[in-house]
Amino acid sequence: MKTHSLQTLDKREFDLFREFIYKECGISLAETKVALLSNRLRKRIKVLNLETFEDYYNVLTGGGSAADEEMGHFLSAVTTNETYFFRNDGLWEFVSGELIQYLEEKFPSRSGPAWNFWSAASSSGEEAYTLAIVLREALPGYDPKKLKIVGTDISRRVLEKAKNAVYDDYSVQKTSPEIRSKYFDQDSESGLWKVKPLIRNAVEFRFHNLRDRFMGAKFHVVFLRNVMMYFDLEMKLRVLERIKEVMHPGGVLIMGDVDPMRQGGDLKERIALDYWKPTIYRVPVSNSSQGSS
Ligand SMILES: C[S@@+](CC[C@H](N)C(=O)[O-])C[C@H]1O[C@@H](n2cnc3c(N)ncnc32)[C@H](O)[C@@H]1O
Repeated sequence: MKTHSLQTLDKREFDLFREFIYKECGISLAETKVALLSNRLRKRIKVLNLETFEDYYNVLTGGGSAADEEMGHFLSAVTTNETYFFRNDGLWEFVSGELIQYLEEKFPSRSGPAWNFWSAASSSGEEAYTLAIVLREALPGYDPKKLKIVGTDISRRVLEKAKNAVYDDYSVQKTSPEIRSKYFDQDSESGLWKVKPLIRNAVEFRFHNLRDRFMGAKFHVVFLRNVMMYFDLEMKLRVLERIKEVMHPGGVLIMGDVDPMRQGGDLKERIALDYWKPTIYRVPVSNSSQGSS
C-alpha cells in the first residue's frame, strides 16, 4: 500500500479494510462507501501523524491498547453513533405503559419489579439513560437495585462518553424541560447537560460485540435499535440467536424503526420470535413456536 498517495483507497486497500471490519464486527461495507471511507480515514491518519493507509491498517490490526482505542474511531468512520434521549417518543410511551403492564403480569414479584434490561449497541448511552428515566417516572417507588440496566457497544470511545454522561443540546433535543430539570444538571458555562447520579448509577456500561454471546445475565427486555442495518443476513441471524440465548421466555425484543424482520430475506422464517407489534417481538414461551407471524 505504501506506494499509493493518500487520495482515495484503491480496490485492494478498500477490500482489506472491508474484510477487517466484517471479521471484527460483522459490518458489511458497500463498495459505494469508498470515497466516504477514504475521507474519514485521511482525517484519522492526520490526527495520528501517520503517512499511509497501510500505516493506519497496521495500527488497527496491531493489537494492544492502541488498536482498541483506534477501533472506536474506525467504527465511527464506517457507522454512525447517532442517538439522542427519547429517540422515538411513541416507543417510550409504550415502555412506560403497555410494556411495564406486560412485565408486571408476566414476571411478577412480591417484592416489587425485578427485571433486567439491555440496551445492545447503546452508543453513547442516551437510550439506556432514557430507559432509566422512564422507569423512574413510571415506577417511582421501585428498588433501583432490582431493575438492572446494561448498556453495551463495540466502540470503547462511545462507552467512555456514556460513562461520563455529559451531553450537548443535540442529545436533549427531545427531552422536555421538566425532565431536563429533574434528571440533568446544566453546566452554567459550557451549557452541557450532566445526567444526575440517581440515573447514572442505574446503568452499567460494558464493551460487547453483538457477534458474541453476552455473558452474565438473562434479560426480560432487550433494545436492539438502529444497528442491524449494518449487518448482512447471516450476521443478523447470528446476532438474534445470541440475543435470544440470553433472554427469558416471554422476554421482549425491541428493534429500531427499520425492522430487520420485515426487510425481505428469510430472517423471519429462520428465527423463532413471536410478533407483538411493529418492531416489537417476544421470545416464544414454548419451543414449538417457529418464526414470526
Ligand atoms: C446508531 S447507534 C444506535 C444507538 C441506539 N441504539 C439508538 O438507537 O439510538 C449504532 C451503534 O452500534 C454500534 N455497533 C456497530 N456494530 C456493532 C457490533 N458488532 N457490536 C456492538 N455494537 C455495534 C456502533 O458502535 C454504534 O454505536
